[in-house]
Parts: sequence; structure tokens; C-alpha cells
Amino acid sequence: MRITVIGCGYLGAVHAACMAKLGHTVVGIDVDEQKVAQLSNARAPFYEPELDQLLREVQETGRLSFSTDMAAAHGSDVHFICVGTPQKKGENGADLTFVDAATEGLLPFLSPGDVVVGKSTVPVGTASRLAGLVQTNEPDAHLVWNPEFLREGHAIADTLHPDRLVYGVSDGSEDHPAVAVLDEVYAAPLASGTPRLVTDRPTAELVKAAANSFLATKISFINAMAEVCEAAGADVTQLADAIGMDDRIGRKFLHAGIGFGGGCLPKDIRAFMARAGELGADQALTFLREVDAINMRRRTRVVELARDLCEGSLLGKRVTVLGAAFKPDSDDVRDSPALSIAAQLQLQGAVVTVTDPKALANAARRFPDLHYEADTSTAVQKADALLLLTEWQEYRDLDPYELATSVSSLRVLDGRNVLDAAKWRAAGWQYRGLGRP
Ligand code: UDX
Repeated sequence: MRITVIGCGYLGAVHAACMAKLGHTVVGIDVDEQKVAQLSNARAPFYEPELDQLLREVQETGRLSFSTDMAAAHGSDVHFICVGTPQKKGENGADLTFVDAATEGLLPFLSPGDVVVGKSTVPVGTASRLAGLVQTNEPDAHLVWNPEFLREGHAIADTLHPDRLVYGVSDGSEDHPAVAVLDEVYAAPLASGTPRLVTDRPTAELVKAAANSFLATKISFINAMAEVCEAAGADVTQLADAIGMDDRIGRKFLHAGIGFGGGCLPKDIRAFMARAGELGADQALTFLREVDAINMRRRTRVVELARDLCEGSLLGKRVTVLGAAFKPDSDDVRDSPALSIAAQLQLQGAVVTVTDPKALANAARRFPDLHYEADTSTAVQKADALLLLTEWQEYRDLDPYELATSVSSLRVLDGRNVLDAAKWRAAGWQYRGLGRP
């Protein structure tokens, strides 16, 4: 099929490359000339494992190109909208400027039978509004909502082998003409057994908001348990292991630590609350306010623990923060708890050095006043305390005996509960986890 992907960020660039990998002819469109130039040279404008290789592989087939010109959409059968929906400044709601601009920009290039497929995370009701625009311009085109569930760091696998596909069509019916079109787009994952659900458009939009809210709630639940464990002298990691053995609960997303960040969960739960308020259903989601509050409390708690670890004062203490990205295998620092903790520590008088394998350039753009050091062994020199805040494999693998010779004091705060506490203590370190004795 001939496919357009509008928006070439974390979602769109991966989607475009994966659609080409599935055998389609794809043009990725973005307003950012630099991004388009990089992608045209088979270079991802951000770090995502294996994306560079995939871009090279599919560009060699001639099936993938990029453009800044929306006219490149003309002639495609399917147009995916993959632009961002950030949080509005000073408000909880989602900013739909980019989604609206992408849809409006596409209208002149639509032909009868075309399918416009929204993938961005939007407030429920957006799809029907955009469908109105599409219909007025091209009555024989369709607008479908097909939410994306990919995780950064696993984006390619999640796109090529999703857990499920959800198609939100105007009448919620299997017989809707856009269903057959999307089935052709996703023929490969469907053939390998990916389940697909056809729903109406509001349900499809809500599936995404509900999924992210559930994940955020699960993380904040275990972080709330971590607070209680700390007060009671219990161990939240053992508690999570034990409750996670119940199939109904499951162990995934029960990692207590410094909480969730990134470009999705925090802003999506806030946008969901805002939208529920507009719909008069705000009471239904008041619990998400608590989910958000528990999450933000983690960041303050880590700063307090770091101060405790440094014998009651952060003033002049050399603190090395291991990790700046909001999660490992990503260079994304949007709402990164690691970086927000690093900035707080510095404000409170600590001499902070931040290191990360991939995210330092993005981190420096967001927090230019922090000190960054790319090399881990240099970053830890003479540190009074180490804080592991993003669980990159190389930090999990650090050898406490080797490190002991570089630092000033043997103090480590494990913000992700991923280090072997017994091993670090045996090597002489004062070890603190979160929600652990
Ligand atoms: C999330 C959703 O998982 C994905 O389905 C959706 O499409 C986009 O939002 P992503 O933001 O890439 O994906 O990251 P995810 O793996 O969900 O992690 C989100 C945050 O939660 C990270 O900061 C991570 O460190 C944190 N987290 C995750 C925890 O603190 N504990 C956990 O147990 C799991």
C-alpha cells in the first residue's frame, strides 16, 4: 500500500520505518527540516535501539522517503497522523495544535476512498471532530482512530508485533470499509496472530487513555506501598514479588522507585482528568490526581533520602547521578524524574554531576546549568554519594568493589531498586533503596 506518516518524532519515525519494513511504500512528512534531512540520510533524530539499522535497511529498498511538503501525501491510500499532543502550558489539558494542523494540512491532498488514521493520543471526542473536517473536504474519505501503544526503547518490536490492534471506526462495525484497508496495512502482524478489535471512535480514543492511566496507577500503587514499607521497616520489592505471583495482579509495572516520567504517562493522565471534567465525569477520575501526587512525591523523597545519606546536609556534597533519561534505552528526558531530582539536589547546594549513555545532549538543552559527564568512570570520581536514577544495564552491572576505589565515600542510593543490596553492603557501601529497610 502507499502510506503517509505525518509527524516523524518518537512515534512517527518508528511507524514509518516499520510500515516500510512490512512492505508498504511510505512517505514520512514533518515540518522540521533538520529531522527530515537526518531521516532521509537513514539517521534517527533520537535514540531508539536498532532504528538506525532499520532505516538503512528499508531505505535501500526505495520504499521509504521523507519530505517537509504535505503535497507528498497526495496519492497515498492511508495517512497516519503521528504528531505530538503535549500538555498545554499551565493547564492539564492536551494541546491539539499539531493534530489540528496536520489534519487541516492534509485535507487538500485527500482522494475518494482514502483513510486518515489517527495514532496520536487525543482527548475523547477529537476523532469525531476531525472526521467532520475530513468529510466536508472529501466526503468519500474515512477517519479512523487506531491508538498506538508502543514503549520507547522497544518501539520497533512493539510496532511490528503489537499486543493488539484497535480500530475505531464511525459505526463501530466490522463491515466499515476502512477495516479492510487497515487489515491490509497490518496484514503481517494479523497473520501472526495479533488480535484486533473494531470499536467506535470514542472507545478507541478511550482505550489509550485508560491503558496509560492503568499503568500509571499500578506504578503509583506500588510506590504508595513503598512509602508504607519505609514507615513500617518492610521491603517493597519482596512485597511486589509476592503480590505479583497472583495472576490477577501480575509482577509487571510493580517496580517501586522514583516514579514514572516521559512524554506519555504524566501528561496523558492529566489530559484524561481535564477531558473527564469537560464531560462532567470528573469525579470518576479524581483518583488520578492522587496517582499523580504519589508519583511527584517520589522525587521529593529521593532528595530527602540523599540528604540523609550525606549525613544531613547536601551543601557542597559531590553527588553523581547515574542516568538522565526517563527510562533506559531511550534518550528522552521529557519529564524525567532523574533530571528533576538532579536539578533539586543542585538547588539544595549539592555539587551534582549527571551521566547517561545517550541522553546528555537532550538533558543539557533542558537543564543547561547542571554539570554533565559522559564517561561513567570520570563522573563517579571523588563522589560523596552515587544516585542510580535510570536503570541502564551498564549501571546495573557496576562492580561495587571496583567503584569503591574511585569515590570519596561509599554511599549509594538505588532509585530503581535494581542493585544487589547484599553485594553492595558486603563491598562496604552504605546502600539505600526505596521502600526497603
Ligand atoms: C508508555 C506506555 O507503556 C505505552 O504503552 C504508551 O504507548 C506510551 O507510554 P513509555 O512512556 O515509553 O510508554 O514508557 P514505560 O515503559 O511505560 O515507562 C513509563 C515510566 O514508568 C518510566 O519512567 C519508567 O521508569 C516508569 N516505571 C515503569 C516505573 O517506575 N515502574 C514500573 O514498574 C514501570
